Amino acid sequence: MKKGKLELTWVGKDERVRLEPRVLVEDAAKSYGDTKAENMLIFGDNLLALKALEQDFAGRIKCIAIDPPYNTGNAFAQYDDGVEHSLWLSLMRDRLEQLKKLLDPEGTIWVCIDDDESHYLKILCDEVFGRQNFVANIVWQKKYGPANDAKWLSDSHDHILLFARDKEKWRPNLIPRSEEQLQDYKNPDNDPRGIWRASDLSAKTPSPSCMYPITGPNGKIYQPPPTRSWVVSKERFDELLRDNRIWFGVKGTGRPMVKKFLTEVKGGITVETWWPREFADDNKIAKYESKDLFDGDSFATPKPEKLLHRILQTATNDGDWVLDSFAGSGTTGAVAHKMGRKWIMCELGEHCHTHIIPRMKAVIDGEQGGVSKAVNWKGGGGFKYYRLAESLLVRDADLSTKDRPVYVINPRYNAVMLIRAICKIENFRYRNDGRMHGISSESRFLHITTQLLTQKYIDSLAEDIGPNQSLLIYATRCARGLHLPPNVEIKKIPRDLLAKCDFQEDK
Ligand SMILES: C[S@@+](CC[C@H](N)C(=O)[O-])C[C@H]1O[C@@H](n2cnc3c(N)ncnc32)[C@H](O)[C@@H]1O
Repeated sequence: MKKGKLELTWVGKDERVRLEPRVLVEDAAKSYGDTKAENMLIFGDNLLALKALEQDFAGRIKCIAIDPPYNTGNAFAQYDDGVEHSLWLSLMRDRLEQLKKLLDPEGTIWVCIDDDESHYLKILCDEVFGRQNFVANIVWQKKYGPANDAKWLSDSHDHILLFARDKEKWRPNLIPRSEEQLQDYKNPDNDPRGIWRASDLSAKTPSPSCMYPITGPNGKIYQPPPTRSWVVSKERFDELLRDNRIWFGVKGTGRPMVKKFLTEVKGGITVETWWPREFADDNKIAKYESKDLFDGDSFATPKPEKLLHRILQTATNDGDWVLDSFAGSGTTGAVAHKMGRKWIMCELGEHCHTHIIPRMKAVIDGEQGGVSKAVNWKGGGGFKYYRLAESLLVRDADLSTKDRPVYVINPRYNAVMLIRAICKIENFRYRNDGRMHGISSESRFLHITTQLLTQKYIDSLAEDIGPNQSLLIYATRCARGLHLPPNVEIKKIPRDLLAKCDFQEDK
């Protein structure tokens, strides 16, 4: 442990996996709906998927909502939920670190978890996101009433750990008032300023300047209740009275109250850290939703759509990017889609195909379960389905010995895949227009060729580059005595690797 620093330690904490930036390959036969839609469903391990997303999505995701395996020791129908504690911590740490890179500077991450790992996870998140960025531990009432067969205590809640990328920059949205809350607003005196609610005029913490008698319309004198004062001074009270903002009841005989006009109160309700089932539904409702969606073959551990609706209402606006890297049956994407957010989901299990794809197709076709009616969902949009490309390099069985592995380019890679893999590895965004194959945010371009690199070739490429831009050329063969402009750099692709790659020029 470093001096002065509290740290969670576990076996294997110092071991790090080296992540190869993999290419994401679309399988258009599994994509659905509007072909221009940007939403992404990725089938595969989320650690590699998150690494693959880094180039295009670093700093762009407004809300990450994840519901990882809780490590309860159960084996569910669709996935196992029990790994050794240290291993679970390493798995989560590696993924949280990748997730952090994708978060928008004003973004947040919401992690569902139960008591088995929640306290370890809080400390782990402190280490990854910074303790100063911890916002709240939301307590969600996942179950109504006790489970009488519980061996110890009946577990009624889950935790939702909320961290901001930068707590000083993030502010939550207010939640719109419910019909029930709006029923408190009426207009018994036909006030032209609209509906209002009568609010207490007395303050819990008494202030000497706010102790005075109030005379009602019928001459009755009102004092503040015992141990309290009024909320406003005598001068302010007189102003409110003149402005018809003090209410003594319909008959003018009640205690004084102050009128709060709906048009003047905050545009919604501040979100609390206690989320009862009335506010965000519970596991039972999630199961009913899942049964309806999948003809009785419900997912083992779904979350209710309303829970995700509350998270996305608080953390996002129209068009924001939402990410769930432990997608399960796809609740986050379904709700994000219905709310007009853009989404990315990753799922490793076969239920990516048996549950998520059918669910998202139904949503796009206008499915009316879950929060559809609340958000006035009418259908539309689409998603693209991706899988992770195989590794660029594979161990060559013929060339490798027991002590000395020899890696070659994966024989299944074609030229376009090779270009895309080099783009990923060199941190360029792939593009297939013009002569440049990749571009990076710092106005840096990438060109890949198997032609002999001559001075004329370099000069003609350099003509496409502006004075504040630079060019990286990947080539196999170079002529002698090349003179490179200061903003051009050359790297060589080993020829024996290319031989495996069916490389045709400038695809
Ligand atoms: C608790 S479930 C999520 C349920 C989801 N919130 C829902 O409403 O359906 C966790 C999911 O994470 C998936 N998962 C676990 N490890 C993963 C990994 N390394 N990459 C991608 N998905 C993973 C599991 O297969 C499982 O579907």
